[in-house]
Amino acid sequence: MPLAPSKVKILVWDAPTRVFHWLLALCFAGAYLTADFDRLLGVHLTLGYTMLGLVAFRLAWGLIGTRYARFANFLRSPKEVARYAGHLLSSKAEHPVGHNPLGSVSIVLMLLSTLFIVLSGWLYVSGGPKLIKEFHEGTAAFMLAVVAVHVAGVLFASLMERQNLARSMLNGYKLGYAEQAIRWTWWPVATMLLAGAVAFWWLQWQSPLPA
Ligand code: HEM
Ligand code: HEM
Repeated sequence: MPLAPSKVKILVWDAPTRVFHWLLALCFAGAYLTADFDRLLGVHLTLGYTMLGLVAFRLAWGLIGTRYARFANFLRSPKEVARYAGHLLSSKAEHPVGHNPLGSVSIVLMLLSTLFIVLSGWLYVSGGPKLIKEFHEGTAAFMLAVVAVHVAGVLFASLMERQNLARSMLNGYKLGYAEQAIRWTWWPVATMLLAGAVAFWWLQWQSPLPA
């Protein structure tokens, strides 16, 4: 009988996906922490618009990026998500190499929340009514809750799968079969994304957007 192939460390997350992830997390945290201070409104807006750019990039990368970064690879119907959740604690639990179906729900919610937060923030600074401000704060609080569930989910899945998934979002590697690996890190694209963000911050530093 042939030996079952064993799992090894394989490249799963390309560099653009990782750079996108940690920039988005950083900007979200920064935008939240600066929201309450009038003096830091420029920083708040800059980080908010950076998030918009990041999500725009991610939507494109979800169409043309590497295997596990593509929406086609991880977007699931509610039925499939429910089935996955139902099996989670049983011996039938499957652990896909890419995003797991529950994780994908949080990803969609975070991407959509970002769009609503930035749109409402922009409408508010453009002279929108007080209600828009309430909506802005509400969507930001909603996304904060999703982030909390997301991080808890990452910790839980790390325990279930016996691998450090947070580290995989840093170095790109997860356990899997050799033939499941992606081939390229796509660092040139990631570097352009990073450079784009830094260039935008520099420009904002020189002449911030009028608030
Ligand atoms: C403000 C905070 C955060 C935001 C907005 C955020 C957002 C996201 C998004 C959008 C993705 C999808 C990645 C993609 O394919 O493009 C993702 C995945 C992931 N994030 Fe976060 N994240 C945050 C914090 C964290 C933290 C603190 C950790 C580590 C503990 C973490 C670990 C991960 C991991 C491991 C994945 C892959 C999950 C999977 O396998 O489905 N994230 N996150
Ligand atoms: C470019 C996008 C954004 C714009 C134009 C914007 C604009 C604003 C403005 C004008 C305020 C009201 C400040 C005041 O009058 O007190 C505000 C508050 C707030 N923003 Fe944003 N924002 C943006 C992005 C974000 C993001 C990404 C988040 C989430 C991380 C966020 C979370 C908040 C929160 C929680 C408040 C309420 C602060 C308080 O307690 O008063 N905003 N935003």
